[in-house]
Amino acid sequence: MSKKVSVWADNKFWQRSAAWVTGFAAMLLIWLTFDSMGQISMGTATELNNGVTKRVPSPTVINHKVTYEMSEKRGHEVPVIGGKELFFGRDDYSEEEAGALLRLGKLGIQAKNCMNCHTLLGNGAYYAPDLTKAWLDPMWESYIARTEKSTKEEAIAEFLQNPSMYPSHERMMPNLGITAEEAKGIVAFLKHMSSIDTNGFPRNFGRMQGAIHGK
Ligand code: HEC
Repeated sequence: MSKKVSVWADNKFWQRSAAWVTGFAAMLLIWLTFDSMGQISMGTATELNNGVTKRVPSPTVINHKVTYEMSEKRGHEVPVIGGKELFFGRDDYSEEEAGALLRLGKLGIQAKNCMNCHTLLGNGAYYAPDLTKAWLDPMWESYIARTEKSTKEEAIAEFLQNPSMYPSHERMMPNLGITAEEAKGIVAFLKHMSSIDTNGFPRNFGRMQGAIHGK
């Protein structure tokens, strides 16, 4: 009769355990990858019209009012997509038109390397304010009068084309040669980005803006 060996001293046991743990971790990673892909995939105009809120809404969110509201349940602010709102005089951009504007804005943002100074969705630098929620910055209200425009989107576009004319800090943004068309695309991109549910990131956006602008 062979002497009974403790299971902890058995090589087979450890080999099998390692194989199971590796296999389980691999399955978990694959599942999490698909879950993340689902979470960050862009919603459609139909979903948006039916009130289905995706973490990244359809580009047609630019036809809607976006506000930032405290969620007691989640303990931070979340973007809330409201009713229709004019954006450069229209609230009926199709998915293609809105998508084309966002692409124009994205190309402008990449070409002018805004991330050299700013942060977008966690990527970039902290020389200048985080742009993730810039569309929701209460500062723009005062910019409507300052730029002598009648809407927030026009005021932001004017600021982007002539930042040194309307500084809000002692540290100024340089003129980057942004055209009116590019500015429109960039403002659309900023509005869409602000509507993305980023789990409250950047933290304390409202208070940070207050501190920056001395409010
Ligand atoms: C060389 C650094 C630099 C680059 C590059 C730059 N910015 Fe800025 N930006 C600043 C600084 C500094 C401020 C704050 C000064 C101010 O508001 O007058 C600012 C302010 C802003 C604001 C106002 C933010 C707020 O809520 O207060 C927006 C919007 C903005 N920039 C957008 C852009 C975009 C879009 C690009 C790229 C096309 C860009 N910036 C490129 C330095 C830069």
